[in-house]
Amino acid sequence: MSTFENPVFCALDTPSPDKAAKLARDVGTAVGGLKLGLEFFMAAGPQGFAQVAKEGRPIFLDLKLHDIPNTVAGAVRSLLPLKPAILNVHAQGGLAMMKAAKAAADEAPDGGRPIMIGVTMMTSLDQSDLERQGNRLATTDYVRRLAEQTAEAGLEGVVCSALEIETLRADLGPDFKLIVPGIRPAGADIGDQKRVMTPAEARDLGADILVIGRPITAADDAGAAARAIAADLGL
Ligand code: C5P
Repeated sequence: MSTFENPVFCALDTPSPDKAAKLARDVGTAVGGLKLGLEFFMAAGPQGFAQVAKEGRPIFLDLKLHDIPNTVAGAVRSLLPLKPAILNVHAQGGLAMMKAAKAAADEAPDGGRPIMIGVTMMTSLDQSDLERQGNRLATTDYVRRLAEQTAEAGLEGVVCSALEIETLRADLGPDFKLIVPGIRPAGADIGDQKRVMTPAEARDLGADILVIGRPITAADDAGAAARAIAADLGL
């Protein structure tokens, strides 16, 4: 079951806090939350984050932290005052790093703890990239191992591709959160995403959060695009 009544998090991939805040107002409550990533945070920083947060929606801060445990724990601590609803780290950073990230998040005051998520394997990588890195596992087995380690570290879920929803749901049980990008409403331009699924398909397979960017943000009317997706989901 989704933590958020509306599972759609709209990816605001822009360096401009004014643009992001406007998009946030345009989509309003037709989405469950907003996602801000590296492009935004590198340009606009904590101040830009605070500007978008004023719109009052849950924010997934997608910074994919990856460093030694002590440094990642410090980064998580530095981000806690922003009160992101969701924060993520690379599962490839290892068990100790993820445990340190969790421990740092646990220091948040009551009600201010972000949901902590591990990024398994970037969907831009494939089997040949794994082999080049000296990793002989099949992609699905590697993703499953990373997801299992994420759960072992005490994080609440992973970012995964739509094609991995069923395996990971079966493996890690009903409470483990699956956050899925690469979602395209039927008929939408797939852009640079290679493996796509519609919002309803991904939700019905067991995704908790659907990350949707350009089908909403590049539409002439972002609000209307978000409302159409919500309607498709029966919301
Ligand atoms: O515009 P689009 O719907 O493709 O945006 C998807 C969002 O999800 C982007 O912010 C992208 O960085 C992110 N993402 C992704 N694939 C991953 C992880 C994150 O597309 N494997």
